[in-house]
Amino acid sequence: QRRITVRDLAAAKERGEKWPMLTAYDAMTASVFDEAGIPVLLVGDSAGNCHLGYDSTVPVTMDEMAVLSAAVVRGTKRALVVADLPFGAYQEGPVQALRNATRLVKEAGVGAVKLEGGERSLPQTELLVRSGIPVMAHLGLTPQSVNALGGYYVQGRGEEAAQQLLRDAKAAQDAGAFAVVLELVPAELAAEVTRSLHIPTVGIGAGAACDAQVLVWTDMAGLTSGRVPRFVKRYAKLREALGEAAREYAQDVVGGTFPAAEHSFH
Ligand code: KIV
Ligand code: NA
Repeated sequence: QRRITVRDLAAAKERGEKWPMLTAYDAMTASVFDEAGIPVLLVGDSAGNCHLGYDSTVPVTMDEMAVLSAAVVRGTKRALVVADLPFGAYQEGPVQALRNATRLVKEAGVGAVKLEGGERSLPQTELLVRSGIPVMAHLGLTPQSVNALGGYYVQGRGEEAAQQLLRDAKAAQDAGAFAVVLELVPAELAAEVTRSLHIPTVGIGAGAACDAQVLVWTDMAGLTSGRVPRFVKRYAKLREALGEAAREYAQDVVGGTFPAAEHSFH
């Protein structure tokens, strides 16, 4: 049994087959998704919000991404593992991007990296691809720029912004990216990008026409607390289930009903 590769994803687009992607930040969760047949797992810098307790992706470090990525690779046999280059790990230029991407490939064993930006990240993408590291681009809402964007809003609205998004997508493809994430983009625009590229688009809040979809796993499984964004569908109620399990366990310990005889050694 071999791992999924970027060639398999190119072939899927040719056959018109859609595929799911989920984030993962640890070995055990990643093994569940791998066994469920999710072909691509993203060690997203959403780990900042969903795993490390930061309030954005901005503080996430290379050291943190390396540890989480290695865990996800160890927990999986079949999935292509893609790791985010975190904020500050590639903005200085292509050489910095290559140094940090190489670390994730060699140290953690990931099969590809993702970085934010189209035209603005073109030199980085070109050097990584030329060096043999597959790159997934990320356009539309790019959370590492939250301080400049002023919040998490739908991107690509209006003719000018739409044209820029199309140029960014083409730039990413021309630089050799194997796929493009489209985050919080009007469905019609995402459909147009999907039609005009030969590489797959991976949508999140970008409508049904994309070649693939991605969700943050804690959103997908209902573990995240608080307000659910419109583009999320919850497929389980893990937060309730886990909270209930913890409360029952606590009650049993306090009440003396756990451990019972069958949990004890004599
Ligand atoms: O970090 C992340 O989870 C992501 C996906 C939302 C695409 O970049
Ligand atoms: Na990310």
